[in-house]
Amino acid sequence: MYTQALDIPDQAATALVAPPSHLQPVASAAQARSQSHFDAVMDADGKIEPQDWMPEAYRKTLVRQISQHAHSEIVGMQPEGNWISRAPSLKRKAILIAKVQDEGGHGLYLYSAAETLGTSRDQMLEALHTGRAKYSSIFNYPTVLWADVGVIGWLVDGAAIMNQIPLCRCTYGPYARAMIRICKEESFHQRQGFESLMVQMQGTQAQRDMVQDAVNRWWWPVLAMFGPPDTDSPNTAQTSRWGIKRISNDDLRQRFVDATVPQAKVLGVTLPDADLKWNDSKKCHDYGAIDWDDFWAVVNGNGPCNKERLSNRVNAHTNGQWVRDAAQAYAAKQRARAQHDLMEAA
Ligand code: 3HC
Repeated sequence: MYTQALDIPDQAATALVAPPSHLQPVASAAQARSQSHFDAVMDADGKIEPQDWMPEAYRKTLVRQISQHAHSEIVGMQPEGNWISRAPSLKRKAILIAKVQDEGGHGLYLYSAAETLGTSRDQMLEALHTGRAKYSSIFNYPTVLWADVGVIGWLVDGAAIMNQIPLCRCTYGPYARAMIRICKEESFHQRQGFESLMVQMQGTQAQRDMVQDAVNRWWWPVLAMFGPPDTDSPNTAQTSRWGIKRISNDDLRQRFVDATVPQAKVLGVTLPDADLKWNDSKKCHDYGAIDWDDFWAVVNGNGPCNKERLSNRVNAHTNGQWVRDAAQAYAAKQRARAQHDLMEAA
């Protein structure tokens, strides 16, 4: 339902086209022209739009990445949603509600962008709910203190911005355009997190300790959030060639570390890494080893909150069935009324 898919090649035809485009035989002169148009757009760093021909591997990669991104946004509502009823003031509650709502909105833009590639929202949600689809590792950690909410804004949204700004220039038009608005909102999210932490750091020693505790717990999962090292990232080479990924996982991680160190100083917290230091010859910070075993355990469903996050999501979807039914009944009524009016007028 709610599909925004435009005309796409029929399923039976595309199901047979399994190998990547460069290995596929050129079936016809028309297909050769389509491929060379696509290649020219890639070479010129232009935009591919939903109605344009594209290799199946490009389409599949985009559906994978955009749907994972959408899933991350909607699952990402849970760790902070957990604090809406316990926010320490009306102002903080209003900000948090707006932020969590924004994340839901980001999920909707992204599902819509992915639907233009011919995969329905139902299919994407089914993949999420059955555990076949990934979502960001970072949302499988608990939010045990109010300070965690500020740290999510500062570090998680900060990392998301670092990763997502380059996606505004991605070659797939609907994804690039969705990311422009998302990044503006993420920027507000990051600032509200930093500002909330600033206020807590000016409070009591107990409040400062809670902020430091939250920073200690979130720092390493945030660094891992950028994805595996470039040497272990199977998708980077191809997505970079297609202008989807503009900056590699390791380069983004490095930029994030370099941007965050001075912010931590302003805030008055320490980052929990004894190896973190400025390297004057490289003109960037060295940092310690990330625990990739822990990262993969979380990605594979065995993090501290994976099961809870997924079951909450499935329950929310099941409990929301009546809303979808009502929306469909209303749309059917509107269609019937419009048809009736048309016949009356004729
Ligand atoms: N969590 C879970 N899985 C991850 C991951 C993470 N942090 N990082 C990488 N992976 C997965 C990849 O999805 C891939 O699995 P797949 O091939 O089965 O899909 C595998 O690990 C290998 O990684 P690669 O580096 O080769 O994969 P990608 O090239 O796709 O890079 C990515 C991973 C950087 C996350 C990229 O997909 C991307 O930029 N995605 C768009 C942004 C996004 O999804 N961000 C998620 C956070 S959203 C968010 O933070 C919301 C905000 O409100 C806070």
